[in-house]
Amino acid sequence: MYKCKFVLILFLISFPFFSYSQGGSTGIIKERMNKFQESKNLMRTINKSLSDNNFDIIRQSAEKLNKWANEMYEYFPKGSEANTSNKSQASDNIWSDPEGFKKAVKKFEITSAKLIKISQNKNIDDTVSSFREVAASCKSCHQQFRN
Ligand code: HEC
Repeated sequence: MYKCKFVLILFLISFPFFSYSQGGSTGIIKERMNKFQESKNLMRTINKSLSDNNFDIIRQSAEKLNKWANEMYEYFPKGSEANTSNKSQASDNIWSDPEGFKKAVKKFEITSAKLIKISQNKNIDDTVSSFREVAASCKSCHQQFRN
């Protein structure tokens, strides 16, 4: 019984390290990749909710995106750029043009905040165009700052 508990605890302790080491990316790089994967899922959820007219889900998803927009810059410390031993796609431009990168983050912050607001009017056309602005902010940052 005691032995059993011990093994379970060991497993719980070692599991995070195991998952962090997957894919050759660790620490903050892995964390931001997960955040971006979550963003992709949130965008899919919003897209689906637009056809279901589920404005509450759209607002909640936009709130999560906006929270991420407010944290994103902190996830790109110096020294976390792409190299041969990680799978990061972070472009060197992030560090050579920090103001440009901050602007791109800000654009995402503004468009996601707008979606939170507009979705509350429950007007489908306005919400669709606001959603497209969020998607455009993802795309334009990727063009400039993702390899
Ligand atoms: C301000 C810049 C910026 C914005 C805005 C942005 N991204 Fe990214 N995104 C990046 C960078 C840089 C990477 C590469 C990160 C890395 O590999 O270290 C990335 C990576 C990704 C990835 C790949 C993650 C992985 O597992 O490797 C996905 C998916 C993604 N972004 C989706 C989105 C979506 C969806 C949005 C908008 C809702 C978005 N991004 C907004 C800069 C941005």
